[in-house]
Amino acid sequence: MTKKDVVIEVEGLVKSYGDTEVLKGIDLTVERGTMLALLGPNGAGKTTTVRILSTLLGFNAGAVSIEGHDVRSEADDVRSVIGLTGQSAAVDEMLTGRENLVMMGRLYHLTKESAKARAEELLEDFDLVKAAGRPAKTYSGGMRRRLDLAVSLIATPPVIFLDEPTTGLDPRSRIAMWDIINKLKQNGATILLTTQYLEEADQLADQIVVIDGGKVIAQGTAKQLKAKIGKDRLELTFASDKLFAAAKKALGKKLLDSDDTERTVTALLKDTNVDVRQVLDILAKEDIKFESMAVHKPTLDDVFLSLTGKQTDSSEEKA
Ligand SMILES: Nc1ncnc2c1ncn2[C@@H]1O[C@H](COP(=O)(O)OP(=O)(O)OP(=O)(O)O)[C@@H](O)[C@H]1O
Ligand SMILES: [Mg+2]
Repeated sequence: MTKKDVVIEVEGLVKSYGDTEVLKGIDLTVERGTMLALLGPNGAGKTTTVRILSTLLGFNAGAVSIEGHDVRSEADDVRSVIGLTGQSAAVDEMLTGRENLVMMGRLYHLTKESAKARAEELLEDFDLVKAAGRPAKTYSGGMRRRLDLAVSLIATPPVIFLDEPTTGLDPRSRIAMWDIINKLKQNGATILLTTQYLEEADQLADQIVVIDGGKVIAQGTAKQLKAKIGKDRLELTFASDKLFAAAKKALGKKLLDSDDTERTVTALLKDTNVDVRQVLDILAKEDIKFESMAVHKPTLDDVFLSLTGKQTDSSEEKA
């Protein structure tokens, strides 16, 4: 078997704050050039994990290495290959965006010329050219976040940690950030990103690790996670209340859910092809015509909610 090119390797990671164990044995690996999303609710242990991986925080048990360097015994080597964002502390409020970038470049021992050139490149990539001459304190939330990320990328690190890069951003800024993150990946970076947004993990990541209460509760690709829980759903909409009522009655046990205002009925599909035909047959037999029809795949939200047991409505196996 060929050994995978693993860049980030975490085994049995345990971390306690005082008596409270907040990471209870986390395992994860990230291969070169891929993106892993660490997905979990507030307090799951995402930031704690990222801080340990980036040498900022110690831990109680387990092993963590980045590019083959142990985070404890070779912390300097680890720091030289990573870029970390999520702590705006790196940005100086009084300096302009451009000055922040050049200053950070100088801290990373770039020559004055290279620091300036790299700053211009990043300002361009992060759509900050117009704002480059203004102090960072005048930036909007989205601009701040982009500058923060740009500053952490000044030395073109091959391994990037992004701790909730889009939390609190409006939808447009979020999509702009996704573009930036995708470009980093296209340029070959290995990325670990934390998020509370399932949609974000779905959009960006090759692999998803779901953590809750300091434990990994599921992992795989978005497709695998969905398949694990997933059953397709058939949604039919009717043009009149009469047809809607007739459909609900006719479907009987096949009916999973219905929405009176939208006049839609939902059926859970165990075997999509067979079940869709059955449902349509039932309706056709009674001459109940539907207006529109759609088959929905389970969303990552469905998966997450059933994994963490925080789903309130019982959409599982009611049919
Ligand atoms: N310095 C600390 N001292 C004590 N407990 C802490 C400390 N930092 C974090 N914790 C606790 O550890 C747990 C994990 O916190 P962490 O910040 O890693 O979660 P998170 O997944 O990043 O959450 P969020 O989505 O809110 O950022 C939480 O219960 C938190 O209260
Ligand atoms: Mg956090």
